[in-house]
Amino acid sequence: MSNVISFEVVENTAVITFNNPPVNALGHAVRSGIVDALDKANNNVNVKAIILIGGGRTFPAGADITEFGGPLLEPGLPEVVNLIENQTLPVIAAIHGTALGGGLEIALGANFRIATKEAKIGLPEVHLGLLPGAGGTQRFPRIAGAKASIELMTSGTPIRASAAHKLGVIDKIANDNLLDSALSYSNTIIQNKLPAVKTSERTDGLQDKKSNKEAIENARNALKSKAGGLHSPFRIVDCIEKALNSSIIEGLKYERDAFIDCLNTPQREGLVHAFFAERKSSKVPEAGRAAPRQLEHLGVIGGGTMGSGITLAALKSGMQVTMVEQDSGSIARGIQNVEKVLDRDISKGRLDLSGKAEIMGRYTPTTDFQNIAEVDMVIEAVFEEMEVKKAVFKKLDNVVRQGAVLASNTSYLDIDEIASATKRPRDVIGLHFFSPANIMKLLEIVIPSNPYDDVVATGFLLAKKMRKVPVRAGNCHGFIGNRILSIYGELAAYLVEDGATPEQVDTAVRNFGYPMGPYQMFDMAGLDIGWANRKAGASSRDPKRRYVSIADRICENGWFGQKTGKGFYEYPEGIRFGVENPDLKQIIETERSKKNIIPKQFSEQEIMRRYMAAMINEAADVVHEGIALRPSDVDVTLLYGYGFPRYRGGPLKYADMYGLEKLAEDIKEFEKEDPIFWKLSPLIEKLIKENKNFDSLN
Ligand code: 3HC
Ligand code: NAI
Repeated sequence: MSNVISFEVVENTAVITFNNPPVNALGHAVRSGIVDALDKANNNVNVKAIILIGGGRTFPAGADITEFGGPLLEPGLPEVVNLIENQTLPVIAAIHGTALGGGLEIALGANFRIATKEAKIGLPEVHLGLLPGAGGTQRFPRIAGAKASIELMTSGTPIRASAAHKLGVIDKIANDNLLDSALSYSNTIIQNKLPAVKTSERTDGLQDKKSNKEAIENARNALKSKAGGLHSPFRIVDCIEKALNSSIIEGLKYERDAFIDCLNTPQREGLVHAFFAERKSSKVPEAGRAAPRQLEHLGVIGGGTMGSGITLAALKSGMQVTMVEQDSGSIARGIQNVEKVLDRDISKGRLDLSGKAEIMGRYTPTTDFQNIAEVDMVIEAVFEEMEVKKAVFKKLDNVVRQGAVLASNTSYLDIDEIASATKRPRDVIGLHFFSPANIMKLLEIVIPSNPYDDVVATGFLLAKKMRKVPVRAGNCHGFIGNRILSIYGELAAYLVEDGATPEQVDTAVRNFGYPMGPYQMFDMAGLDIGWANRKAGASSRDPKRRYVSIADRICENGWFGQKTGKGFYEYPEGIRFGVENPDLKQIIETERSKKNIIPKQFSEQEIMRRYMAAMINEAADVVHEGIALRPSDVDVTLLYGYGFPRYRGGPLKYADMYGLEKLAEDIKEFEKEDPIFWKLSPLIEKLIKENKNFDSLN
C-alpha cells in the first residue's frame, strides 16, 4: 500500500487515513492508495464498516492541482468516488479542516458524513476555472437542492459544518475527538443496521421542483452580469440542472464532459497559474535565511489616505498601532479616517460596538514622535517628497529603539536615499501598500541595496499577519507595479493622441477583463499625482521621447478627476461612473494639431495588441533586471494591485499563452513607428532563442 494512505482495523471498522501533507491533495498515489485500502477492507471478514479520515490538518482539500493539464492518470477521481459509493459496507467520511473540491466529492461518495464543528466544506473549483468533476454537481444537489448547490459552486466559498448540517450534507457534528466520534458512529451504524443510502439515490434535494427550476433561471440571469467573463459558472449551472432532471449515470457523464471542456480552457490555465503564483511570491531568499524580528507594535507616520488604511489593516490583524501626525488638526483627521471605516463596518453588521472598543483600545493617535520609541516597526506614509521623507527618517533614527524595522510606503522614491537619512540603513525597507490599504491585498516589499535578512523577513511576516499577498520588489522608480503602469499609461496616452478616445481605450481594456480602464482609473486615483510626478521628472526626461500633454492640459484647468468632478470624464453629482467630458475633445484636437497628427481609427483588438505589448515588454525588463525575482511575481503584482483579469493569469502568463514570437513581431512592428518607446526586451529575445517561455523561469 502506498505511504500516503494508511490502513488499520479498530474493532469492526476499517480506518483509512489520508497522509499526504500539507492538505491531503488527491494525487495519483492517493487515489491508487484508496482503491487498495478499500480492497483490503473488503478482504477482512471482521470489517463491517469503513471510515475515511484525513491525517494532519485536514480532510482532502481537493484534487492535486499540479496534475491539471498533464495526462489523466488512472484511476481518476470520479472512478474512485464511484467505487466508494458502490461499497457493500457502509462508508463514513470523518471530516476536519477543509473538505474541498474532490475532497468533498469523496465525502459525498460515502453514505454518512460526520464533521468537527470547526470543519468547512466547499466546492471551490470555480476559482480554478473548473467545476466539481467527481460527481459534486450531481450528488450535492440530490441532498441540498439547486439553490444551495448553485451558491456553493458558483461562489466557491466554503460553508461551515453547522450550515452543511442544516442542509443535510453533514449528518452529525463530532465531539472533540473526531476519530473517537466517528468510531462510535460506526458502531451505532453497524449495531442498528442503519440504512447505508447512496447519495446518488437520495432525492431530498429534488422534491421542490418549482423552487429548483426558479433557482436555475435566476442563476442564469444573475450570471449574465456577475460571472465576470468566466466560463465555468455557466457550465456549473448546466450540470446542476442536469442533476435535477436526469439519471445519475447520465448526469455524471454530462458533468465529465463539462469538466473536460473547462479543463481545456485558457481560463483554467490562467487561474491555476494565479493560484500557484500567489503562493510562490512569499518564498524569498532572505526569509529562508533568517527568522523575522518581533512584530507586535507598529508605528505609522501620517494619518492620511494611506497612513489610516495601514493603521486599519494592522489593527484588524490584532496588532497595536501608534499613529503619529504633524499637528492636532491632522491627527484629528487621522482618527476620523480610522473610525469612519470601523463605523461603516458596524453599520454593515461586520463589527459590533464592543469589537470597535477593543480595536480602538489598541490604537494610540499622537503628535509626539517620542510615543513610538519602543515600537517594533515604523511605516512612514507622509507626503511623497524626498526631503519630507528624509526629515522624518532622521527623526525616526533619533527616537525609535535599535532593532526596530523602519519602512517607507513611498510609491516611487529611492529607498536607499531615504535610508541614507539614518545611521542604520540596513534596517530600512520599502513597504508599498495599495489604496485602500485596509482592502487591497497586494504589498510590495521593496529591497534597497543591502538590508538585513531579518528585516526583509519581518516585512513578509507583516504581510502574513495582515493577510496580504506580498511580492518582493527591487528598488527602482515605481518598483514593479507602478513602473509597469507608467509604461502602459504612456501607451494609453499615445493611443488617444493618435486617434482613439479615452472611452474606446477603457472599453477595450474592460472587455479584456479589467474592472475599469486606465482613464477611469486615473480619474479615480487623482490626476494631480501623475501631474506632480511628470513635473518632477521633466528635467531628466529624454527630450527625444514622445510626450503627450493632454493630461497636463486637463490638470491646468484644475480638473483632477473624480474628486473635482471632472477629469478625462465628467462626474455630475450622484453619478458613480463618469460620462463624457464635453471639453476634452477640443483639448485632444488642439494637441493633435500642434503635432500635425491625423487621427487614426483603432479597433479594440489593435488597442489591446499595443496595450499588452507595452505592458509585457516592460514586465520582461523588470524580470531581466532582477527587480522581480520571477515572472510570476510580476503576474501577482498586476493581478492584486492593478486589476489584471485573474483568469488570464497575469501579463507574463498571458504572454506565454499569446506566444512570445508573435509578441516580438508586434513589438518590432511598433518599433518602426517609435524606436525610442519600443525596444524589444532582451529577455524576450533570449527566451525565444532558447525556445523557452516565461513560465520556465518561475
Ligand atoms: N493541490 C495541490 N497542492 C495544493 C492544493 C491542491 N489542491 N491545495 C493546496 N496545495 C498546496 C499549496 O500550493 C501550498 O504549497 P506550498 O506550501 O508548496 O506553497 C500548500 O498546499 C499549502 O497551501 P496554502 O498555502 O494555500 O495553505 P492554507 O492553509 O493557506 O490553505 C487551503 C489551505 C484552504 C486548502 C488552500 O490551499 C486551498 O484553497 N487549496 C485549493 C483548494 C481547491 O481549490 N480544491 C479544489 C481543487 S480542484 C478539484 O478538486 C477538482 C475535482 O472536482 C475533480
Ligand atoms: P495624504 O496626503 O493623504 O497623507 C499624508 C499625511 O502625512 C498627511 O495627513 C500629513 O499631515 C502627514 N504628514 C506630512 N508630513 C508629516 C510629518 N512630518 N510627520 C507626520 N505626519 C506628516 O497622502 P497619502 O495618499 O496617504 O500618501 C502617503 C504616502 O503613501 C506617499 O508617499 C504616497 O506616494 C504613498 N502612497 C499613496 C497611495 C495612494 O493611492 N494615495 C498608494 C500607495 C502609496
